Amino acid sequence: MQTQATYNYKVVRQFAIMTVVWGIVGMLVGVFIASELVWPQLNAFEWLSYGRLRPLHTNAVIFAFGGCALFATSYYCVQRTCHARLFGGPLIGFTFWGWQLIILLAAISLPLGITTGKEYAELEWPIDILITLVWVSYAIVFFGTIAVRKTPHIYVANWFFGAMIIAVALLHLVNSAEIPVTLTKSYSAYAGVQDAMVQWWYGHNAVGFFLTAGFLGMMYYFVPKQAERPVYSYRLSVVHFWALIFTYMWAGPHHLHYTALPDWTQSVGMIFSLILLAPSWGGMINGIMTLSGAWHKLRDDPILKFLITSLSFYGMSTFEGPMMSIKTVNALSHYTDWTVGHVHSGALGWVAMVSIGSLYYMIPRLFGQKEMWSVKLITFHFWLATLGTVLYIAALWISGVMQGLMWRAVNPDGTLTYAFVESVKASYPFWTIRVLGGAMFLVGMIIMLYNVIRTAAGNKAYDAPVLAPAGAH
Ligand code: HEM
Ligand code: HEM
Repeated sequence: MQTQATYNYKVVRQFAIMTVVWGIVGMLVGVFIASELVWPQLNAFEWLSYGRLRPLHTNAVIFAFGGCALFATSYYCVQRTCHARLFGGPLIGFTFWGWQLIILLAAISLPLGITTGKEYAELEWPIDILITLVWVSYAIVFFGTIAVRKTPHIYVANWFFGAMIIAVALLHLVNSAEIPVTLTKSYSAYAGVQDAMVQWWYGHNAVGFFLTAGFLGMMYYFVPKQAERPVYSYRLSVVHFWALIFTYMWAGPHHLHYTALPDWTQSVGMIFSLILLAPSWGGMINGIMTLSGAWHKLRDDPILKFLITSLSFYGMSTFEGPMMSIKTVNALSHYTDWTVGHVHSGALGWVAMVSIGSLYYMIPRLFGQKEMWSVKLITFHFWLATLGTVLYIAALWISGVMQGLMWRAVNPDGTLTYAFVESVKASYPFWTIRVLGGAMFLVGMIIMLYNVIRTAAGNKAYDAPVLAPAGAH
């Protein structure tokens, strides 16, 4: 009877701790590959080479770090807002151990060079099948909990988590359709430009749903909680939810400007990307304005600082993205560091910062504490993360625009002004600054791990009692 009355925090604790661990691993690989660009001698062995480790970095930060953060926060949020213990029995543990196995298999297969070659979907077919099984279990646990809820409404954060779960299932199934030839090699079911279109429909919606919708779910739960204020506008949350999920689906072709994709398709991608600015900013404004009447809390609450700064970066990257999708701007930005800078203002500034803020809120509560072991260390982490992100993205803006301009510069007689290698040489100082910015972000994560260990040490794992059906959450 006793266990019936508590939330299942065990799986939340497991995912929360692994978020920090995989964050450190993924970012360490990020700092390493960033260093390989500055010191090419580091490409000492084939399995340590840039080409093998780059997909390991992207998979580790997106699916291991980001994925564990999504599992932890969605499981926490759905139980608390539904006033119900997680549904699904053994499936719950399977989602945790299955996801860790997938990460382990990725960490082995990618450095060995086993890859489909499709960006963000590099894992080979047996791992794809395992991903499908875990994801379907996740859907059963999540939607099952919503089905047995004791509250009349479904809180808005759960819509975002739910949309993420459904969309990612669809994306994974369609884009990973492939014909296996051996255990470690398969070929895509699509060919030529159709393959490219399916891939970037997947790629862009991975950004839209995995890296955005789920993290907006976090925003809608943890910002009001930490600010102790209700969401600024429920009406805006409804409008921005439907506008966001409808618009994202059409924007993929902006990754394929000036390719063999029909021109009108590229224009559709560009127009939907420009429209996407509105729902994105609707979400940002709703999050930031939740602080109305509580702005003073920002002064000395480092968790709120993480959450609100992440929304500022979200606003910035979702302004930058639509600009980069304009064909004439993309003619300059594509293939340059500008794209990578844009990626990391979203990835470090938005995805990582909102996850870190949410974890700092959750972790003490998972161990029966009021706050983290050291609030000062959270503040220190905040500054390291913010300055690290700014250094990273500012350096790559400069190198990106510089590369674009150097590549298109022509002499009066029509010959190119610069050889490609000259642009590489000119990029070195900025790549060095990126290593520094990335290293600062990584050190912040290591400090976070220490703070988490100290918070957990000596405190018993704690499962809060399930709230009464009609009570406040
Ligand atoms: C310590 C922090 C990090 C460092 C030093 C770092 C470094 C790097 C480097 C060097 C690249 C390759 C860029 C190139 O090919 O020119 C890269 C790519 C990428 N990283 Fe990171 N990264 C970090 C954190 C993250 C995080 C937290 C995420 C996601 C949540 C992320 C997502 C990505 C993605 C999606 C790409 C591929 C970008 C593209 O193809 O345009 N990174 N990163
Ligand atoms: C309104 C929202 C956004 C729009 C319209 C947008 C648009 C774009 C455009 C035009 C590119 C460059 C494509 C190219 O030249 O190859 C790009 C790349 C990218 N963006 Fe965004 N972006 C948005 C938000 C975000 C956010 C919030 C994130 C991360 C959390 C993100 C992650 C990425 C990634 C990972 C890539 C690189 C893909 C690759 O080439 O590997 N974007 N985006």
